[in-house]
Amino acid sequence: MNPTSEFQGKNVFVAGGSSGINLGIAKAFAAAGANVAIASRSQERVDGAVAELKAISAKLGTQVHGYSADVRNAESIAAALAQAHGAMGDFDVLVSGAAGNFVAPALGMSANGFRTVVDIDLNGSFNVMRNAHQYMVRPGGSLISISAPQAMNPTMLQAHVCAAKAGVDMLIRVLAMEWGPDGLRVNSIIPGPIDGTEGIRRLAPTPEARAMMISSVPLGRMGTLDDVAELALFLGSSKSKYVTGAIIPVDGGSSLGGGRNLGLALPANA
Ligand code: NAP
Ligand code: COA
Repeated sequence: MNPTSEFQGKNVFVAGGSSGINLGIAKAFAAAGANVAIASRSQERVDGAVAELKAISAKLGTQVHGYSADVRNAESIAAALAQAHGAMGDFDVLVSGAAGNFVAPALGMSANGFRTVVDIDLNGSFNVMRNAHQYMVRPGGSLISISAPQAMNPTMLQAHVCAAKAGVDMLIRVLAMEWGPDGLRVNSIIPGPIDGTEGIRRLAPTPEARAMMISSVPLGRMGTLDDVAELALFLGSSKSKYVTGAIIPVDGGSSLGGGRNLGLALPANA
């Protein structure tokens, strides 16, 4: 840990923090000296993530807490937030990253399939942020949503996620306006394809799909957990104290549409 880290003694809650990108963010805040609480549905996954986080916090003397909660159920996530608040005190940073996804055409989704993803991603984001508001450090607290490129790009086989994540990004902009006078900032991160995650296992399950995905990234590679965590640290810090209502990609430029413009390769000397 950097001895001058501004996160020493700060409190961070990560909804959906038991794996992947969200656990990467939780680990980055823990390594920077913050007390960290995570919540997700599976107690087993929470316990595994807490053990990984404790391997970091044990050296720093900081706290780690884990809770089993479902963001679709307002009472369930409210209880986890209340317990974390009781254990740590007010939250300096709140990350809302729980999500669900599967690949299916709209005609291959039942009403319950569509609703399930909207419920986790969009209603879950509302439940997390709405119930966390009362516990945020004011002024100065930072709320961060983990959105997705589907919020901006219509994507076949992703009708549920596109609709849900577009809603999430509109939600955070409204909250930024309503909660700005309280001294709270609300921003959204849009990760590009992040290697080794459940999201990529589902969206690019074959070598061909992977190659196509990478070909759409101007920087020529998938992102890492650290790439996303660095942006979360920035948005959680005072370095971003005048940033709110922003929707920020960390995607190697993939949201620019690179590689899809004409369907032609660049000449070798371009
Ligand atoms: P992941 O490892 O599956 O992470 C999802 C997390 O959400 C898990 O910890 C899961 O734990 C939790 N979760 C799911 N449903 C929940 C619910 N109803 N209530 C509470 N927690 C719930 O996936 P990931 O790929 O790292 O994705 C993480 C975030 O990044 C998501 O918001 C995703 O949309 C976004 N994203 C990912 C990529 C990518 O390349 N992977 C790209 C763009 C955006 P439990 O199963 O224990 O509930
Ligand atoms: N194609 C079409 N429909 C599907 C589907 C698929 N591949 N996978 C699930 N569904 C449907 C189910 O059939 C069900 O609808 P039904 O009741 O009409 O049959 C509905 O979605 C809910 O499925 P269920 O398994 O009961 O939901 P769950 O709440 O247990 O799990 C999911 C939610 C489906 C999103 C599950 O994949 C999950 O837990 N994901 C979390 C991890 C994740 O997605 N990570 C990547 C994040 S980018």
